[in-house]
Amino acid sequence: MLLRDFLKRCTQALEALYPASEARSVALWLCREKLGVESYTHIVNPSEEIPEYMLPELEDDVRRLVRSEPLQYVLGSAPFCGRKFKVGPGVLIPRPETELLVEMVLEAARLSGPGTRILDLCTGSGCIAWTLALEIPGSEIVAVDISEEALTFARCQFSSQFSNQFSGQGPVFVNADILSESPAIPGGNFDFIVSNPPYVMEKEKTEMRKNVLDYEPSLALFVPDDNPLLYYRAIARISKSLLKPGGEGIVEINEALGEETAELFSAAGFKNVQIIDDLSGRKRMARFQK
Ligand SMILES: C[S@@+](CC[C@H](N)C(=O)[O-])C[C@H]1O[C@@H](n2cnc3c(N)ncnc32)[C@H](O)[C@@H]1O
Repeated sequence: MLLRDFLKRCTQALEALYPASEARSVALWLCREKLGVESYTHIVNPSEEIPEYMLPELEDDVRRLVRSEPLQYVLGSAPFCGRKFKVGPGVLIPRPETELLVEMVLEAARLSGPGTRILDLCTGSGCIAWTLALEIPGSEIVAVDISEEALTFARCQFSSQFSNQFSGQGPVFVNADILSESPAIPGGNFDFIVSNPPYVMEKEKTEMRKNVLDYEPSLALFVPDDNPLLYYRAIARISKSLLKPGGEGIVEINEALGEETAELFSAAGFKNVQIIDDLSGRKRMARFQK
């Protein structure tokens, strides 16, 4: 089958779920990853053929996509901060907005010198923990999640590809419930505590897409409408005991709850509490200092 004919069929099938331009982007992304072609190959080479042996797999991929399964689960990977992370059912797909959190930590860590100690709460795929470990040579990173499924993904990221490139130790991944009274988190005296915890209110489900609601783990996303900041209360409690004096917390937040989140960290006794907007003016991060 010609590549351009497959792209057309795939795009048309996906237009039942996505706006036309997004359907086309998903089809192009699938072909780029599975066939190694560029997004313009079918234009510059209209006679480009898809190898016969790839067709059954691609047809199966399209069937999964049409059932609203996220493309990243179909591909088994998602990009984050310039690297590919393994993902699949049971683990949250890393979001581009979380890259801002990593950039902020990297910038702050550059000033903090060698041997930076970082705790990543609610690590999921480990995308934050691994990126920081790979970008800050000599750093010591502990990463925590309650989901063993997520931790299985987190532990195996980069175990083979990066074994030569990565000079230090990888993050230490630990199963713990951060909402419990005294979560079993090893170590202390951290320079930074970072987190992208669950923060979507149940009532916000109505604005979310089927591919998220039906496939991504609810445990990673939702908080009760009547207690939407419960994870931030836990982060404040853990930061009080595990951040070193002067250490910083940097967390992703629900943009609708910026003020409330800032008040929570101020009331818990932290200094220099700031809410940070992303480039489109949305309240995306909170930062605080012990
Ligand atoms: C929004 S996801 C973030 C995943 C990853 N850090 C990222 O940015 O893509 C939140 C994560 O919190 C974990 N989680 C939920 N409740 C938890 C708890 N009580 N203790 C520890 N982790 C928890 C979920 O399993 C999920 O992996």
